Amino acid sequence: MTTTSTPPRKRLFIRTWGCQMNVYDSGRMADVLAPIGYAPAETPDGADMVILNTCHIREKATEKLFSELGRLREAKATKRAAGGEMVLAVAGCVAQAEGAEITARAPWVDIVLGPQTYHKLPEMVARASRAAGAVIECDFPAEDKFDHLPDAAAPPGVTAFLTVQEGCDKFCSFCVVPYTRGAEFSRPVAGVLAEARRLVSAGAREISLLGQNVNAYHGEGPDGRSWGLGRLLRALAEIPGLRRLRYTTSHPRDVDDDLIAAHRELPQLMPFLHLPVQSGSDRVLAAMNRGHTADDFLRIADRLREARPDLAFSSDFIAGHPGETTAEFEQTMVLVRRVGFAQAYSFKYSARPGTPAAGAPHQVPEAEKDARLQALQALLRDQQDAFNRSRVGMTFPVLFTGPGRHAGQVAGRTPWLQPLHLSGQLGLVGTEASVTVLAAHPNSLSGLLAAGRDADNVQPAEEPAPA
Ligand code: 5AD
Ligand code: SF4
Repeated sequence: MTTTSTPPRKRLFIRTWGCQMNVYDSGRMADVLAPIGYAPAETPDGADMVILNTCHIREKATEKLFSELGRLREAKATKRAAGGEMVLAVAGCVAQAEGAEITARAPWVDIVLGPQTYHKLPEMVARASRAAGAVIECDFPAEDKFDHLPDAAAPPGVTAFLTVQEGCDKFCSFCVVPYTRGAEFSRPVAGVLAEARRLVSAGAREISLLGQNVNAYHGEGPDGRSWGLGRLLRALAEIPGLRRLRYTTSHPRDVDDDLIAAHRELPQLMPFLHLPVQSGSDRVLAAMNRGHTADDFLRIADRLREARPDLAFSSDFIAGHPGETTAEFEQTMVLVRRVGFAQAYSFKYSARPGTPAAGAPHQVPEAEKDARLQALQALLRDQQDAFNRSRVGMTFPVLFTGPGRHAGQVAGRTPWLQPLHLSGQLGLVGTEASVTVLAAHPNSLSGLLAAGRDADNVQPAEEPAPA
């Protein structure tokens, strides 16, 4: 009989709320914990460690967290009754905002860590198992946490995220991000390129660069100079095998000429851009401290479309910011009709404690906010449907990412990030192939492989019909 020195695998369950940056962070937390024996688990039941990676951007984040913690208290007690221990950690923006308040209300939590400290998790786990009290790490340390993270333990999918920038200095009136994620920070170019090369050699074909304000990117280049996002995208586009690039989330104020030129020059840069505008009223935009007018946004959208005629937009909107009148809300509807969005996220304003708008006079009544949001969402939904329908009959490259929902299907994404499925072989996964779209469904497209054509000799997609 052989003996093995491999320590028993410990089970790690991570629950992720919020944006793609949190999804990326959860992946990196798993990577950091892999060398000390933690392997991903599908459920929290019986897990040796549970991390709740929280998001504070919208309503009731704290309440949701505490109700989840209530459930986990029982799971932890069950584990202990069975002779085991469950390490319970709260990470992300609610952890950053609430800090020690979390362990005061839920003393069964072992670790509270902010988004800038997750590379220290193994040390925190060790301290938590020694310490009588909880371990709280919510600083914004000056060191670059990315230098302290191991290479990814799990292989990426065909599409991968790569965080290049964190934090925000813009202080929009309604938003907690500058308080929870701290000041803007850009990773140096060399680290980004090295991570991208690793992702591609492990099978990624599409990389989405992430950052709260990704187009404010100003990382140090190998030449010692500050590189903007356009320059970074050009360097990434040279990586052999990397077919597609995207970036999110951008601020209209930081769309510069070089970034627009990158959209013109780089076929790898996908013709779909998430560019939040929040409102169509200049007075509301000023109250939001956005630093741009409705017209600025329209001009930027026009210039981007001129550079890349098949470019489609996604955006974020807030209905019912304090002080927003009915006429001002109507200006948002006018802007939406003028731009024509392929996709959008829209929210009812909700007060975030500690932000300037939370204490502003003239809060819009709930019923009025509901009515505005409904009208806005109906218009955006119509535009999304029209955009999806406008793809029917077109032929363009689709990147296949995995099996479809039904047997015999493969699924992929279009250049505009629409899910697409067709009857086909799993051998297509990881490749880009030309597809002719046959039908538009509420949230996806279906199509047929365009015989005899591959992504390298595909016809350019036609200009989208106005949505
Ligand atoms: N209320 C409503 N929506 C908000 N967002 C951010 N903060 C709030 C808030 N307090 C929305 C913005 C932002 C998106 C990520 O979430 O539209 O772009
Ligand atoms: Fe929040 Fe505004 Fe910064 Fe976006 S730009 S993260 S909305 S403060």
